Amino acid sequence: MDLFDKLVAELGPLGRHSNLPEDYFMFPKLEGEIGPRMKFQGKELLNWSLNNYLGLANHPEVRKADADSAAKWGMGYPMGARMMSGNSVNHLELENQLADFIKKESVLLLNFGYQGVLSIIDAIVDRKDVIVYDADSHACIVDGVRLHMGKRIVYQHNNMEDLEKKLQRATKLANETGGGILVITEGVFGMSGNLGKLKEVVELKKKFQFRLFVDDAHGFGTMGETGAGTGEALGVQDGIDLYFSTFAKSMASIGAFVGGDATVIKFLKYSLRSQIFAKSLPMPLVVGALKRLELLRTQPELKDNLWKIVNALQNGLKEVGFNIGTTQSPVTPVFFEGGVGEAANMAMDVRENFNIFCSVVIYPVVPKGMIILRLIPTSVHTLEDVKQTIEVFSKVKTKLDSGVYKREEIIELNS
Ligand SMILES: Cc1ncc(COP(=O)(O)O)c(C=O)c1O
Repeated sequence: MDLFDKLVAELGPLGRHSNLPEDYFMFPKLEGEIGPRMKFQGKELLNWSLNNYLGLANHPEVRKADADSAAKWGMGYPMGARMMSGNSVNHLELENQLADFIKKESVLLLNFGYQGVLSIIDAIVDRKDVIVYDADSHACIVDGVRLHMGKRIVYQHNNMEDLEKKLQRATKLANETGGGILVITEGVFGMSGNLGKLKEVVELKKKFQFRLFVDDAHGFGTMGETGAGTGEALGVQDGIDLYFSTFAKSMASIGAFVGGDATVIKFLKYSLRSQIFAKSLPMPLVVGALKRLELLRTQPELKDNLWKIVNALQNGLKEVGFNIGTTQSPVTPVFFEGGVGEAANMAMDVRENFNIFCSVVIYPVVPKGMIILRLIPTSVHTLEDVKQTIEVFSKVKTKLDSGVYKREEIIELNS
């Protein structure tokens, strides 16, 4: 059999949905300035699908810093991997400022969050060690865990009783091999908006010996008094041994970082294959991140405004009877019941006839029969946007419940 035959025949779990209108649900093209109003297929829509939590993507100071830096350095500078010829005072400065902000001794920059997480897991465990991780972990954690040649044990999402049981098993296994234990969870879970139970996990350190790695992609900039993340919000930043976040959300850019004790970060600096064997973060991204961090630290109104929108949206949706699950963060999933066809019809109606753009989450990302329309509020949304969205969602929920969307074919568009 030709290797490619099965790829073309099956297309994979997500590719299976590629029969839905191309460029519509999969790979849609949003156009215009980044923000709550963007164009989709020529029409202006209210956009709730960007992780631009603090509105920094289009902040004039950010845009200027990015442009000035690109003009000064070009997009290639510095050339080479960090270890060889790709280091700069700006890279070091950004690391120092991040370490100071997240209250860790030391920080290491990463080119991408996904790669970084994979590489960190790969670097810090060997076949004797045991990984224990939350079942709802992001793909980068799951894929990092898959690289691990030792034992890996998953615990039910945020279920501390189950984690304790799994830690008992992990301890036994680690004692047999002479290895250690790494627990991995997230600060904010990107689909549900749930916070990782970091306080309870850290508490378990009194009973079990393990190190804790937290992916706080959605928490950095949005959670905690200063925006330093979920560890700060829950008062357990010290108990997190490795704190990771990406620049892809609140910082509205590319890149990522990991912070921890200086000795461990030094180990990572010399061991992280994704950094040692890859070109370092380009200067405009580094200088741009310094500007974003400055704004994040000095303009608390960005986060305050985000939370004003989050609270209005989440409370408003709950008041009119929507199920938004158990979110404790800006991530706002709105749960509906229905099949993939209904999801497509409903989302199309929302987009075409009610001018709202949001992500649709369907099987296999969530169980069969569940549809999530996921809203990501940002500090540049308005209370008027919130009002409009709740009204539209109420209308489409009535239509969904009356069976309007229940047909195989995709509904006619008004346009
Ligand atoms: C929880 C989580 N971890 C890691 C990543 C990957 O980060 P990056 O986009 O920088 O690769 C994401 C998504 O961007 C994420 O949501």
